[in-house]
Amino acid sequence: MLELTLDRGENRPLIDQLTQAIAERIDQRHLLPGVRLPSIRQLAGIAGVSKFTVIEAYDRLVAQGYLISRPASGFFVAGQRPALDLSEPVDQRDQAIDPVWIMRQALTVDRKTQKPGCGWLPQSWMNEEQLRRALRQLAGAPQSQLLEYSRPLGYAPLRQQLSRRLAGIDIPAEPNMIMLTDSGSQAIDLLHRYLLQPGDTVLVDDPCYFNFLANLRCHRVEVVGVPRRPDGPDLDQMTQLAARYRPKLYLTNAALHNPTGGLLSPAAAHRLLQLAEAHNFVIIEDDIFLDFQEHPGPRLASLDQLRRVIYLGSFSKTLSAAIRCGFIVAHPDRMVALTDIKLATSFGNNDASAQLVHRLLIDGSYRKHVETIRRRLRQAMAQCQRRLEGCGFTPWLQPGEGMFLWMHLPDGHDSAALAKAALQHDIVLAPGDVFSVTRSCAGFMRFNVAQSSNLRLFEILQRQLTRK
Ligand SMILES: Cc1ncc(COP(=O)(O)O)c(C=O)c1O
Repeated sequence: MLELTLDRGENRPLIDQLTQAIAERIDQRHLLPGVRLPSIRQLAGIAGVSKFTVIEAYDRLVAQGYLISRPASGFFVAGQRPALDLSEPVDQRDQAIDPVWIMRQALTVDRKTQKPGCGWLPQSWMNEEQLRRALRQLAGAPQSQLLEYSRPLGYAPLRQQLSRRLAGIDIPAEPNMIMLTDSGSQAIDLLHRYLLQPGDTVLVDDPCYFNFLANLRCHRVEVVGVPRRPDGPDLDQMTQLAARYRPKLYLTNAALHNPTGGLLSPAAAHRLLQLAEAHNFVIIEDDIFLDFQEHPGPRLASLDQLRRVIYLGSFSKTLSAAIRCGFIVAHPDRMVALTDIKLATSFGNNDASAQLVHRLLIDGSYRKHVETIRRRLRQAMAQCQRRLEGCGFTPWLQPGEGMFLWMHLPDGHDSAALAKAALQHDIVLAPGDVFSVTRSCAGFMRFNVAQSSNLRLFEILQRQLTRK
């Protein structure tokens, strides 16, 4: 039997409330396709409203495709909902610039295309020789496990190694609190499966990493943006939004935030954790750029000791994006459920990748490799910023470290239009709105400083920006 309670004290018409309540039950699959709804008279009795209110609500639900009306039999939940289509933008303002735009472009273009909009280092910056050597060693070592599924949490020596590394930034992670995944992206998806139900609300930074938005969309949740400030989320706004939407989750990169490159100040971190406690939401701290920081400051996961914070990382940015390997660090209480979801959705992570990453991490060359990357990134950042300023851009922040510069376009210019024009010249840029749930970042663009060394980029930018 359908149970519904409408709030007569609420400043919203009963028809709206009734329509929404039924739509939510269908979205959340409490009411499945084909189920017959109560008759108009029955529902009027259940909800304590007039028959007119029910007729109007049912009519709206039919118009919205939730219900079908069968004359003389009643109202039924409509058949299959349309398949999820991520290419459909959040609103219709710009069909081309949705959260998947950069990946779609950057992963399909040919090698000669410049990719200042992408989020990874150029091949020439990676230690490919070392990687090939480790692959050969792995293939040749008789003890390598190349045939069977991984253990549920993943390759134990890598988890032990990660545990030692995390202790270095005060994250108290025993190996049994670390679960290997096939990537940072898979870690995020698993956590969303674990924490969220369709219809829940999630807070993200505005702007945030575009794939947070795309993945949350797969989970059919409401996403609410918290304006990002240079030292973290706007906590006054977050307080109001948390009270209003009762979010289940806040998803962020506390340090080297994508796309702004910002850090979370210690004061903001403390207040954020208090807010999460007061409003009972979980925080996912995606720390994928950790090794780009020379002296990493305290992480949310260390301040909170993994009570409310779940931490994740991956090796795509420093070792290889082809060898997929990431990890989740969480309180032991969460590990059984998380591992079950991992097994249910993948039967385990790629054990060959995990063994390879382990070899690469324990080899002394990793430390030298990331030191070199950090040095090169610092130089590239200073140079890229100077060149962009020469084209009329202004930095929103001076990150100093990491890969990204979040730049303001000269007044009146639109980053989506600039990105589309640049594509004609074989340059993939990252227009601001792909990072913004409110689509309020049209005046910004993210630059990957490691992918912005070719002077042709700045010539094209200059030409496009003076054309207007
Ligand atoms: C903030 C952030 N998280 C996660 C990822 C995904 O990483 P992976 O390649 O491990 O899936 C990226 C990739 O750009 C990222 O920028």
